[in-house]
Amino acid sequence: MSQDDAKRQAAEAALEFVTDDMIVGVGTGSTVNHFIDALAGMAARIEGAVASSEASAERLRKYRIPVLELNDTGDLPLYVDGADEFTVHRALIKGGGGALTREKIVAGASRRFVCIVDQSKRVDWLGSFPLPVEVIPMARSFVARQLTRLGGQPELRSGVTTDNGNVILDVHNLEIMEPIETERRINDIPGVVCNGIFALRPADEILIAGPDGIERIR
Ligand code: 5RP
Repeated sequence: MSQDDAKRQAAEAALEFVTDDMIVGVGTGSTVNHFIDALAGMAARIEGAVASSEASAERLRKYRIPVLELNDTGDLPLYVDGADEFTVHRALIKGGGGALTREKIVAGASRRFVCIVDQSKRVDWLGSFPLPVEVIPMARSFVARQLTRLGGQPELRSGVTTDNGNVILDVHNLEIMEPIETERRINDIPGVVCNGIFALRPADEILIAGPDGIERIR
């Protein structure tokens, strides 16, 4: 099975959490694109979706799934999104697609966060994948120096401006042994909008697609 087939399998498995008349929180990335494609078959049954990126909103609209504003919906029953890394404790690194801030907002506003991944995303501890940090542009150098003090090697993601008009620093070589503590410390640096550790609000359930089908971590 190819990695893309595994992503599709995980995405399709998440449909079981979607119920009639629901407003679904929808993440960003290639795994979520499969989820949106699968959700299209239920478009007439759901009320709509809240998207974590302009890219996902565009794909949802293509299928005529109404895209709603989080400010208008209140809390959501369900958020479905992928991840760049996950641990057995359901902590994640996200933001490989640059949408981490809106992803964290929609995840935070959702009662259930179902994460869909292929098994290559499994790690013992977070940090092999460079940690994305969204930063206000004028604070870029200052934040980079602070991240270096924490032991990482920040690199500006070249040519990328987020949906919020900011830049992303990808932090290499951080061994994130205490994800909640590291998430808080990075958030406390002035100029940081958001970092890609999802530990304060981890996934509630992870659907992992592999050669033997879907494994679940709850
Ligand atoms: C985007 C994300 C994605 O969920 C993450 O990068 C995984 O992407 P993919 O499903 O393409 O492997 O956090 O910001």
